[in-house]
Amino acid sequence: MADLVGIVLGSGLGPLADRVVVERTTGFAEVGLPVSKVKGHAGRFLFGKLGGQSVIVMQGRVHLYEGHDAKALTAGVRWMHEQGVRHLILTNAAGSLDPGMEPGSWMMLSDHLNLTGTSPLEGGPNFVDMTEVYEIKAREGFRALAGKLGIELHEGVYAGLRGPQYETPAEIRMLQTMGANAVGMSTVLEALQARALGIKVSAFSCLTNWGAGMGATNLDHAEVIETGAAAAAAMMSLLEAWCAGNWES
Ligand code: HPA
Repeated sequence: MADLVGIVLGSGLGPLADRVVVERTTGFAEVGLPVSKVKGHAGRFLFGKLGGQSVIVMQGRVHLYEGHDAKALTAGVRWMHEQGVRHLILTNAAGSLDPGMEPGSWMMLSDHLNLTGTSPLEGGPNFVDMTEVYEIKAREGFRALAGKLGIELHEGVYAGLRGPQYETPAEIRMLQTMGANAVGMSTVLEALQARALGIKVSAFSCLTNWGAGMGATNLDHAEVIETGAAAAAAMMSLLEAWCAGNWES
């Protein structure tokens, strides 16, 4: 298994890195990448092993809402590709839009809605096929593995918005009508960039809260971070098991 697996950690999902045997780290600034200032984002790459598989873990992605454009935002994906990453696993925190998907559980992305109004591919390459952004074969593997490990893993469509504010209840109803199961402020542009480079992509949303207006309480970033940290262990087990044997299948 010469190819590297890249893992991008979302807000509050830092504990996901705990089971990586770290060999070295590289700060974003050292390789000319923009650094995030959002709490819960460290801004470095960890090189190491997970389940015996060589991985690069990206801690601290940057977001459109910090003022970065789509190109800057996806520089980390291009850099990981240069390092040899050929399968990218994106994680994020997201609001659940689906009454059947409870906060605290995970959703594997089957597809997405890019509602950011931008693309890292502006200026080319044009017309890249996006019929299968999130690789079907890998999804089958993750689904089977989650079942074996007793991890609840939903599947659905992620709507990627610019933020930085959370949605209004009316926007949540619009997104539900559009066919989205979860909503967040990341992932879609990185996935587009990776697919344009021929990198396979898998992505997982940690459902940290109900979409605005769906739950009993208002949205709170601290709660998002807390729920993410609590749910991280299940995803780590899944990724570790997949890296240990299943990632080529
Ligand atoms: N909306 C957008 N982004 C999010 C949410 C949400 O409800 N939860 C975590 N990230």
